[in-house]
Amino acid sequence: MAEKSFKYVIVGGGVSAGYAAREFAKQGVNPGELAIISKEAVAPYERPALSKAYLFPEGAARLPGFHVCVGSGGERQLPEWYAEKGISLILSTEIVKADLASKTLVSAAGESFKYQTLVIATGSTVLKLSDFGVQGADSKNIFYLREIDDADQLVEALKAKKNGKAVIVGGGYIGLELSAVLRLNNIEVNMVYPEPWCMPRLFTEGIAAFYEGYYQNKGVNIIKGTVAVGFDTHPNGEVKEVKLKDGRVLEADIVVVGVGARPLTTLFKGQVEEEKGGIKTDAFFKTSVPDVYAVGDVATFPLKMYNEIRRVEHVDHSRKSAEQAVKAIFASEQGKSVDEYDYLPYFYSRAFDLSWQFYGDNVGETVLFGDADPNSATHKFGQYWIKDGKIVGAFLESGSPEENKAIAKVAKVQPPATLDQLAQEGISFASKI
Ligand code: FDA
Ligand code: NAD
Repeated sequence: MAEKSFKYVIVGGGVSAGYAAREFAKQGVNPGELAIISKEAVAPYERPALSKAYLFPEGAARLPGFHVCVGSGGERQLPEWYAEKGISLILSTEIVKADLASKTLVSAAGESFKYQTLVIATGSTVLKLSDFGVQGADSKNIFYLREIDDADQLVEALKAKKNGKAVIVGGGYIGLELSAVLRLNNIEVNMVYPEPWCMPRLFTEGIAAFYEGYYQNKGVNIIKGTVAVGFDTHPNGEVKEVKLKDGRVLEADIVVVGVGARPLTTLFKGQVEEEKGGIKTDAFFKTSVPDVYAVGDVATFPLKMYNEIRRVEHVDHSRKSAEQAVKAIFASEQGKSVDEYDYLPYFYSRAFDLSWQFYGDNVGETVLFGDADPNSATHKFGQYWIKDGKIVGAFLESGSPEENKAIAKVAKVQPPATLDQLAQEGISFASKI
């Protein structure tokens, strides 16, 4: 089989790969030097669109509308952009073997790719209910959402099951965003999750109470404290009912599962140091193997602000880590260095007419402020997290661009404050900093 050779190879063609390509171009990569090898059939795109505008009943987002880097206000990189820069976009190509010692990757079709420097950007894959042995989990019309093909299958099912019934399994990001967009499609929605409130990895009970109330007002029926333990099907193999651990049975034409993700490190197991489920890197996203970098969801990196090493599964970090790695690659080739990655965690979500942002760390004591009544028309509210007398995290629903900037700043600067003061001043405290 053919062997191709590149100075730089990015394995994975998602968000990090697209932003890395932009940085390679900025740094002056020569035509023919860089290849992106992706399992997906399309050029890198802004993955967050898949659980939001891609599923709208009207005016849905479609490619080429949301190729990177439009999500951060940058240029839209169409396939022609890569061609003009002499970047090889090798699509529909899954790498099935990586030998870091001989610097060789092998595709499912048996093609070999040699590199001098490798950037691992394989992202995450979904956890599946079949992995946990849930009975009937392979039935038709049970969907997961990670890649554009998954979203296309869901779009087809929404067309086929107009005004039907859905069960959403999971109360995290996918659960909350999909419940909302399926309601917009006039689907009857039951949402099921094991925890006492939604999105427990970020939300406190107070924040969650707002969203749960708001969702219920929009017709989402929330069932907490239980899990799906089995699925019954129609004779044609399509899902018919979801059986819950608490004995309840829910009718369903469509099931969407969002029970978490797992970083795709399998190709590199035993060849590179791992930590916290990801590939361990330094502040330049260099792994334990020379000339191998890891960025985005797969990287476990030093989070300088908190003096900890962490993995982050969000789009802002995937963009910024990719840029940092490419800057570091070029600097090291010139015997120079770049500043260490100093990341302020930033997460966000949008659903219905809601939009929240969070910056910093969700540890310590909390104080809720503003109007968190799910029945109110304005519903602008937020929360601060305080540790050792200083603000370390800030959350804001329905903030203006200036207010969102203010909470980012407050989480970065970490000013001292008391819970009483923050309860009284609310967002105006952040706006003064
Ligand atoms: P990403 O998953 O983007 O890309 C990985 C790529 O590698 C894929 O193209 C994959 O096919 C490819 N690949 C994997 N293994 C391969 C192999 N062996 N050979 C070849 N190719 C391979 N975050 C946020 O902050 N706000 C948001 O609103 C959202 N919304 C959102 C919606 C949905 C539906 C998902 C799934 C995720 C989000 N996220 C998000 C998370 C965010 O999208 C995620 O953190 C980034 O996409 C991670 O970027 P990466 O490049 O690391 O992986
Ligand atoms: P998640 O980790 O956000 O949430 C998973 C949820 O499912 C948790 O509440 C968990 O306790 C629950 N759960 C676990 N097992 C369950 C079971 N058996 N039955 C019912 N519920 C169960 O993961 P996700 O929502 O699947 O998201 C997948 C990935 O996509 C993550 O990396 C996430 O960051 C990313 N994503 C991010 C955004 C965003 O940032 N706005 C949006 C969509 C997806």
